[in-house]
Amino acid sequence: MSEIVLGVSGGIASYKAAELLRLFTEAGHSVRVIPTASSLNFVGAATWEALSHKPAQTDVFEHVDEVAHVRIGQGADLVLVAPATANIVAKAAQGLADDLLTNTLLTARCPVIFAPAMHTEMWENAATQANVATLRSRGIVVLEPAVGRLTGSDTGKGRLPDPTQIYAAALQVLEGRSQDLAGKHVVISAGGTREFLDPVRYLGNRSSGRQGYALAEAAVSRGARVTVVAANVSLPDPAGAELVRVISTEDLRRSMHLAAADADAIVMAAAPADFRPAEFVDAKIKKTADGVAPEIRLLENPDILAELVAARTSKRPVIVGFAAETGDAHSTVIEHARAKLARKGCDLLVVNDVSAGKVFGSDENEAVILGSDGTVEEISHGPKITLAHVIWDAVVQRVD
Ligand code: CTP
Repeated sequence: MSEIVLGVSGGIASYKAAELLRLFTEAGHSVRVIPTASSLNFVGAATWEALSHKPAQTDVFEHVDEVAHVRIGQGADLVLVAPATANIVAKAAQGLADDLLTNTLLTARCPVIFAPAMHTEMWENAATQANVATLRSRGIVVLEPAVGRLTGSDTGKGRLPDPTQIYAAALQVLEGRSQDLAGKHVVISAGGTREFLDPVRYLGNRSSGRQGYALAEAAVSRGARVTVVAANVSLPDPAGAELVRVISTEDLRRSMHLAAADADAIVMAAAPADFRPAEFVDAKIKKTADGVAPEIRLLENPDILAELVAARTSKRPVIVGFAAETGDAHSTVIEHARAKLARKGCDLLVVNDVSAGKVFGSDENEAVILGSDGTVEEISHGPKITLAHVIWDAVVQRVD
């Protein structure tokens, strides 16, 4: 059981902190909520006190005898500010201490996470970006906001990540993950691409994006700046990561090349469609009176992984491929994978045995990680987040 301080600052997303609080308390953690004065315009102290069974103080002049402004921070295992407004981010970056939350942030020796939520303009403002960079440079985890509907009718980057995602990121930090990817930019592709035949039909595959999203969650918790290029994934946005949505293999290819420009590591966890229809028909393809089904000619898509390997310049990102393999009469799964590793030229290949539909859509995975230097690491059946951390361990050993 950990002592969590949940700082709530004044944004419309304050109400979502109630769900976050419940996730912690139901898992047996003790949570103390410190709302800022302006956040009480959105959610009152009674909500926090009833849900946390603890007083929800805002300023330092209540219960002065308890020296709360020092004690709370000193005793915490994690301070999580969610939602974090541009104002609290700025105050924390400057080290101001004019209420209980900012005092607690200054006295905390434990890990600190900010989950910002604000309008896109505020997030993108140079002042906010500089403040975020300052906090990150001090080892504070600042999650990237999600993209979606904001307070008004507008849409953009600035939404509070889903409470379950913030909770997952917090658990990773609580587990004491080292920040060994701090200062690194990692790019992960996830999901499966679709190639449209006509406006309603496509060729696709069964990749759910779960392994890619687990890799993102793990990398965020290890301090990386994370870009996820997601092809048709219907999971909640990964907290703390920059998300780029794509549909086809060509979209994925373009976005991966763009994101890879300053990457320290690239993981191709997506399943790009290997083939696309030679023609896209603008109107829905109709059945014919004579009952003859149309023949569809396919063209081969470019191999993005091999292209990313070939595009490496002096800044040499570590490149990781995935291989979904089934054995056959001639070769075992590992023999196929060794040949693929050599063919693609990447540094690491994560090999899944997908005979009989294993892996797809599941939260669990088992794999073998082959290194171009001849290393072989077997990871027994377990959660995809565990495999994700083993993959990052292997990347960290190879990254400059
Ligand atoms: N990959 C890619 N571009 C493609 C196809 C695959 O970048 N057009 C990447 C995948 O993201 C994965 C790796 O290549 O990291 C291996 O994918 P896989 O489907 O196993 O390999 P293929 O190259 O398609 O080989 P094959 O189908 O012949 O086994």
